[in-house]
Amino acid sequence: MIVAIDGPAGSGKSTIARLLAVRLGFRYLDTGAMYRSVAVAALDAGTPLDDPDALGALARAVRISFEHEPGEPLPTRVLLDGRDVTAAIRTPAADRAVSPVSAAAPVRVAMVALQREIGSRADCVLEGRDIGTVVFPDAEVKVYLTATPEERASRRALDRAAAGHEADHAAVLADILRRDTHDSTREASPMRRADDAHVVDTTGLTIEQVVDRVAALVEAAR
Ligand code: DC
Repeated sequence: MIVAIDGPAGSGKSTIARLLAVRLGFRYLDTGAMYRSVAVAALDAGTPLDDPDALGALARAVRISFEHEPGEPLPTRVLLDGRDVTAAIRTPAADRAVSPVSAAAPVRVAMVALQREIGSRADCVLEGRDIGTVVFPDAEVKVYLTATPEERASRRALDRAAAGHEADHAAVLADILRRDTHDSTREASPMRRADDAHVVDTTGLTIEQVVDRVAALVEAAR
């Protein structure tokens, strides 16, 4: 079974998708981490961020994998050609680079192929922007998570502060609005809700309430 969780930055996708995967005993795939890994590879290699073909070649050449800590139910570490980039993919520099990288059509072709391969191996919860529309249009359950931009910015600012980065609320909100616009207006797979996705507005809901709601959708589809 495929559970597709899409939505904008800060909508709660990662938190919800992870908890849901643990509760269901499914695998979990963070597709944003894959685009972020290509962005880190591009920054490291000095690949021009405005050259889709060069970015595509890079995306096809790198090896992205996810690793479990002993005893953890889900992977917690991201490896790029065997190097741990778990922290590097969450820096402000990676945040900025990932928009042009994920807008490059050749990068998307490479990542979508990999996501389909990983998702097809076992029951899986995948989170991203285009899972229900492009990667797995036949997913049994499609959820589109939303929340107001202000709430999403508050959540991101908390994440940032917890990771030891600067977390000015106004700057985070501006970054979220910029990424929303970029992700939803780009030519290659713009972010949009699948027509048959269940929209869950997480504003004002606790994490547990959202997981319960999505788990009920999965149960109904089984
Ligand atoms: O979910 P995230 O913030 O880690 O995603 C990082 C970037 O990757 C975000 O700007 C949108 C892009 N992305 C995408 O285009 N398609 C996906 N399936 C997942 C993420």
